Amino acid sequence: MNKVLLLFLLIVSAEGFGGMPRAALGSKVGVSGQVVRKVGGKVLLRNLILPTLYSTMQPGDLPSNPSPPPPSDPPVPPPKKMDDRLYTLNKTIIDTVYDIICFVYKDKDYPRFFVLETVARVPYFAYLSVLHLRETFGDRSGGERMRTHYAEADNELHHLLIMESLGGNDSIIDRTIAQSMAFGYYWYVILVYFVSEQAAYHLSELIEDHAFNTYDGFLKKNEAKLKTLPVPDIARKYYEEDNPFLFDLFCTVPETDEETGQFSKRRPKLNSLYDVFVNVRNDEREHWKTLCNLVQYEDMKGPPGGVVGSKVIGTQLDEDLREKRKLEGGGLGDFKNPFE
Ligand SMILES: [Fe+2]
Ligand SMILES: [Fe+2]
Repeated sequence: MNKVLLLFLLIVSAEGFGGMPRAALGSKVGVSGQVVRKVGGKVLLRNLILPTLYSTMQPGDLPSNPSPPPPSDPPVPPPKKMDDRLYTLNKTIIDTVYDIICFVYKDKDYPRFFVLETVARVPYFAYLSVLHLRETFGDRSGGERMRTHYAEADNELHHLLIMESLGGNDSIIDRTIAQSMAFGYYWYVILVYFVSEQAAYHLSELIEDHAFNTYDGFLKKNEAKLKTLPVPDIARKYYEEDNPFLFDLFCTVPETDEETGQFSKRRPKLNSLYDVFVNVRNDEREHWKTLCNLVQYEDMKGPPGGVVGSKVIGTQLDEDLREKRKLEGGGLGDFKNPFE
């Protein structure tokens, strides 16, 4: 350090630096903002004294110093499609399990929701576990995802608590079924996530699609009755009283014209159990959007302009599935951001 100071003093005294306008000294700004000067035919790079130099500069001292243009946004990459065999395998697994649960719990909505919520939140634990392990071995790239996945898991926990408050977990048989499935599914997602993040995120994309449809259908079928039922305490606490920091954290895709980005502000006020289920349904859509982007762009926010469900590569399969979904009259389909 003393050498640097000595070098600086030598330069200043040799060239009459002190007291003279800096521009008059012929300083130039080179690449990377380094100030270069010619002294005795040699170019001195003054990286080390740059902070001192800039701290004493006046505006206009360096007229030949145009600020570099702001970096333009990188071009949006095309979405990554999925191998159709992987897509079909995931779809078959999720649809089969979902159909079995719906068959077993045909007329028992709250136990059905309890089982679905218990299983549907497990993938977020699995992602977090793998990301934590990678972090342990020095990979620090997953920090932002870890925070979002934790916020998603916390949101799903509150869905589960709401279902429990409605009696969804009253039976020990239902609890045993749900917890056994969750245990097995956790390890399955861990394995898949190790091999292919895209495949693991796609599994959840399919689950969240089902979750949205399930609650949407339930709301349409039971609107009148739900509007007469009270709001569970846990729902009021979570949606109205708690700090919404974690809630806003998992809403990664803008769907609002609010500049604040506080997505929690657009949640409907809770006047009845109907509003609670509207909130739960909309939360599932937020999860779905984030997962679609992770599958296709390896990014939670994705490109502007809305979200499209994941597709397969070069086969008719995806079109067939879309057609089938249209005929069934449901599904998230392709969400287009109305505010973009
Ligand atoms: Fe949920
Ligand atoms: Fe969800």
